[in-house]
Amino acid sequence: MEAHKISELTKIPLHVAIIMDGNGRWAAQRGLPRLAGHRAGTENLRTVISAAADFGVKYITFYAFSTENWKRPEDEVKGLMRLLSEFIDREMIKLHKQGARLLHIGHLEGLGPTLEKKVRDAIELTKDNKTITVILAFNYGGRDEIITAIKQMLSEGVPADEVNEDLISKHMFTAGIPDPDLVIRTSGEQRTSNFLVWQSVYSEWAFPKAYWPDFNKEALLETLIEYSQRDRRFGGLTDPKKQE
Ligand code: IPE
Ligand code: IPE
Ligand code: MG
Repeated sequence: MEAHKISELTKIPLHVAIIMDGNGRWAAQRGLPRLAGHRAGTENLRTVISAAADFGVKYITFYAFSTENWKRPEDEVKGLMRLLSEFIDREMIKLHKQGARLLHIGHLEGLGPTLEKKVRDAIELTKDNKTITVILAFNYGGRDEIITAIKQMLSEGVPADEVNEDLISKHMFTAGIPDPDLVIRTSGEQRTSNFLVWQSVYSEWAFPKAYWPDFNKEALLETLIEYSQRDRRFGGLTDPKKQE
């Protein structure tokens, strides 16, 4: 990696969230079945997790399966479940050794008891790790998350005048996780597709052209450099000290 580029990383996002899009098009480009694209995409996770940890990112979320992805053909859905299972079997020990902590957002119980247990075991195994937190959004939808939070608050009998942003955040799947500073959607598509609806209101967004399986360390660096150049105002004004 070129040192002059690394020196352009003046601001590192604490939390990067990625909509891993373009697996199907990556496969089609090569005349391969869609699942080959998903396989290549899953293999890319390790590369990007290591790269993010090297750049000093502390939280990284991967959108791997949305609540809308159940609409896909049964074979593709089954294949995606199998790839998650294989990813945990193959990579978890390595990630654990690297100091990665795994978390999940979404409804794990929708994945069946075997896969649910596998993910829960991986979360338990890595719970004290500190290098980087890897958050897997699998069977996740932003609207579903808000509905789940409202139901939970109602069942707790939370009084109306106690409802505020902090309390809602605490009832989200992401409770305790800082909001994403940067959301990346690969493949050139530019929409949220129901990702982190509540949490991304002040995120910076980036839309690199690469399909997810091709989004490598260099591409992540380019995107982080783009983020370094953004001026985040949160509705206020640019800090005059930073304008000099
Ligand atoms: C992203 O790749 C992975 C999932 C949504 C599971 P896609 O499967 O959406 O790939 P494209 O958009 O068809 O290229
Ligand atoms: C978003 O990608 C979901 C994930 C990457 C898991 P999709 O490919 O499913 O989104 P749409 O259908 O193009 O909006
Ligand atoms: Mg897609």
